[in-house]
Amino acid sequence: MTNLKKSNQYFFYKTKLIVDKNVFRPRFETEQLVDCCQEIIKAFWKENKFSILEIGTGSGAIAISLAKIFPQAEIVGTDVYWKAINCAKKNGDKAGTKIQWKKSNLFDNINQKFNVIVANLPYVADGFSLNKDVLDKDPKIALFGGKNGLDLFHKFFEQVKNFLADRFVIALEFGWDQKSELKNLLKIYLPKIRYNFLKDYQKQDRFLFIYNLY
Ligand SMILES: C[S@@+](CC[C@H](N)C(=O)[O-])C[C@H]1O[C@@H](n2cnc3c(N)ncnc32)[C@H](O)[C@@H]1O
Repeated sequence: MTNLKKSNQYFFYKTKLIVDKNVFRPRFETEQLVDCCQEIIKAFWKENKFSILEIGTGSGAIAISLAKIFPQAEIVGTDVYWKAINCAKKNGDKAGTKIQWKKSNLFDNINQKFNVIVANLPYVADGFSLNKDVLDKDPKIALFGGKNGLDLFHKFFEQVKNFLADRFVIALEFGWDQKSELKNLLKIYLPKIRYNFLKDYQKQDRFLFIYNLY
């Protein structure tokens, strides 16, 4: 469970992370995304060799958790914001992981294919009134995603095909009211692809898994 210990220390998936003002504070819900990735990988990648890309890593929470569970995996963690990459790298090194950290605007600086692509992209609609604590403590770049919050999802879906191995899973977190718009985007950008939505522990639609596992 994510736990605030001191002002800038968080526990995410039992790993202590230092979270500075440049990065999103990891949330409890996101541990469910890691749980699901773990289950899928264990079920479908019996072989030792597989690769994971996390886009928008922030503190490194997701990439570091997966690296600790799957030390044999090749893992790349990216963020558009170099201060976030610095923070993630420090956390990853402290946790003893061997993640490759890269500054990248979505896939701009990526030049290989991956089995698992995971992302908790910014998805809040511009102008949505968030509570003061969130606005004060989480960087705007981690929160807002354009008019309906899904600007980055458009771009992500448009580009992701070029970075997928033959067998793959894409795991995404999104806002509780965005499922139907995401379905529309899938029809446009990734027709014929298999996918599943999953609810969080509050029974809200929060996760999307897109896959070809056979
Ligand atoms: C909601 S935070 C998620 C952080 C972390 N993955 C987590 O779940 O705690 C979104 C992250 O996406 C990054 N980001 C925003 N725009 C991006 C882009 N165009 N390409 C890559 N990362 C981006 C932000 O800097 C931020 O770190």
